[in-house]
Amino acid sequence: MSYRHVQPLEREERHKDDMAFVHELEKFEQILRPNLLEINGLHASVAGREVLRGINLAVGAGEVHAIMGPNGSGKSTLASVLAGNPRFEVTGGEVLFEGRDLLALSIEERAHAGLFLGFQYPVEIPGVSMSAFMKAAVTEKRRHEGLEPLSASEFLHLSREKAAFVELDHAMISRSVNEGFSGGEKKKNEIFQMAMLEPRLAVLDETDSGLDIDALRVVGGGVSRLRGPENAIVLITHYQRLLDYIIPDFVHVLYKGRIIESGDSNLALRLENEGYDRLINRA
Ligand SMILES: Nc1ncnc2c1ncn2[C@@H]1O[C@H](COP(=O)(O)OP(=O)(O)O)[C@@H](O)[C@H]1O
Ligand SMILES: [Mg+2]
Repeated sequence: MSYRHVQPLEREERHKDDMAFVHELEKFEQILRPNLLEINGLHASVAGREVLRGINLAVGAGEVHAIMGPNGSGKSTLASVLAGNPRFEVTGGEVLFEGRDLLALSIEERAHAGLFLGFQYPVEIPGVSMSAFMKAAVTEKRRHEGLEPLSASEFLHLSREKAAFVELDHAMISRSVNEGFSGGEKKKNEIFQMAMLEPRLAVLDETDSGLDIDALRVVGGGVSRLRGPENAIVLITHYQRLLDYIIPDFVHVLYKGRIIESGDSNLALRLENEGYDRLINRA
């Protein structure tokens, strides 16, 4: 658009119009852009018992959400359903990942789509070295993105860098996956894997017990590092202490399979002081 033949005052008016138009367009784009994760009315059962009873949650790009709640609320069940664990049966609702039906995707396809699940009890894989396991995972991810596999030396360089970042002794990379790892080492290893794969969405189901201050700091640091405008993190945690290291944008309280309260990081602090009782009695 040319302003050359327009009087100064009129030019200003037009500029204002243009800005309003641009603003509208941006708002529209925001609406068009799907949430990274959207859970609508999710119901799920395990062993014939309904554990998730209508979960609604929207996670946008760039956000960190903490899911808290008493034991047995269904936190790990939610993580298992997102992971595609066949033991958990979805009986209602939907889960959209970047607008796609996540529940229709295989476990492998979920990983390709950029979903990373960290488990409360990480599995041990005797006989498979960490390096072979991660090389395969990184190669698979790159293949899906149309990239060549990393050379051995490139992979070594990357894994050294990421291991240093979680303060994981790089020598551990040659050991079997999680075999004989201490609780803290397993957690560091989990964050190491996350750092290697750079997922769009990480769902971390925390073992709060058994995490020492050192492991907490590493997990917190890892999560902070992954935080970026294009990706998001869902932190499942029983205690607020992890949230000292990573301040969430949103905190949700899960109780008996439903989110009974949502707020900002102050909610976690309030729960630390008051416990869950007041919320539960109200629910
Ligand atoms: N594999 C399973 N078989 C039977 N019941 C299960 C299984 N996993 C979870 N549950 C039950 O589902 C409920 C929620 O558990 P869970 O999701 O682990 O809670 P949280 O992680 O919040 O402590 C509990 O009552 C638990 O006993
Ligand atoms: Mg749990």
